[in-house]
Amino acid sequence: MKYRGRHYRSIEREGDAVLVIDQARLPHEFVQTRLATLESVAQAIRHLTVRGAPLIGVTAAYGLAIALRSDSSNDSLRTAQTLLLATRPTARNLSWALRAVSSAVANLKPEARADAAWAAADALAEADIATNLALARHGSALLRTLWEERGRPARLDVATHCNAGWLACVDWGTALAALYMAHDEGVPVHVWVDETRPVNQGARLTAWELGAHGVPYTLQVDGASGYRLQHGIAACLVGADRVTAQGDVCNKIGTYLLALAARDNGIPFYVSVPSSTFDPTISRDDIEIEERPANEVTHVWGRNDAGAYERVQVAPADAPVGNPAFDVTPARLVSALITERGVFSPGEAMSSLSGTRGS
Ligand code: MRU
Repeated sequence: MKYRGRHYRSIEREGDAVLVIDQARLPHEFVQTRLATLESVAQAIRHLTVRGAPLIGVTAAYGLAIALRSDSSNDSLRTAQTLLLATRPTARNLSWALRAVSSAVANLKPEARADAAWAAADALAEADIATNLALARHGSALLRTLWEERGRPARLDVATHCNAGWLACVDWGTALAALYMAHDEGVPVHVWVDETRPVNQGARLTAWELGAHGVPYTLQVDGASGYRLQHGIAACLVGADRVTAQGDVCNKIGTYLLALAARDNGIPFYVSVPSSTFDPTISRDDIEIEERPANEVTHVWGRNDAGAYERVQVAPADAPVGNPAFDVTPARLVSALITERGVFSPGEAMSSLSGTRGS
């Protein structure tokens, strides 16, 4: 992604450390933070400095490499894996990436492990970009078809939720990648961006990303999406954190409501998802839904009119709070899954991908 004339990745290697964009400070400040220790990597994932399923996976992969550089013993490998795995429970990409790196090094002599882990993490980062480009191609072709079927209107309205863009991956994104490519190729997409409470990944990150790329968008509160779907939206397009073999989609809280409203209004609901997010082992009721801190709901964080950062309380301090970070949209509400191999019905996607990374 280009920002201020320079191409950035959401995570970049710098010797035996990585630079990540501090997503907690966006959109007000664009700052790269250096992660050089295992603990700093775990903290960055836990505290949403980095977030989004594919980026969580790649960051954790680099975390293992960092740990093995300072201690390449079996114990160190096990401890690092356990620590990183516990950072966030829902995105499939985390365990998938950790497994990819640890199986690349487990049978090596300790002195060969760190280099091999760095190489494996680098390979995952490169593969993420290649995968997202494929998702962009398949997704943008689908958007072009929608646009042409509608007689090439002056504007193709697409709704999205959370942030499934460049910031959620190493580059490009999943759902937003399709929108970037469609826009670049002349499809006049306009994106309705749900703010995505409680942490506002839509308002803070998706709005910022789309603006930086020059894609027209309008931000709205989450509760407005049902209304909007009654008034001219051509499609919904979101990402995912975990997808079952049956095609049930676990994604940011609020996705299920969007899918229900889309179904009620006959609007296609598309999910753009790399094979690393598919989980063949799980059924939808068994997906662990992360419960996040209450202060994400009772408070909001942002910049005041004087330009200073401030956290303000919007609910009684002692309000009992539930804060599930994800929900599961049943496959029956999903029109199609856009994968790096092509566009599939929810039920056939996993088998079409077998033999690739997700299996
Ligand atoms: O809590 P987050 O910000 O990590 O949640 C991210 C999402 O739910 C994204 O939609 C999902 O990871 C898909 S990203 C390509």
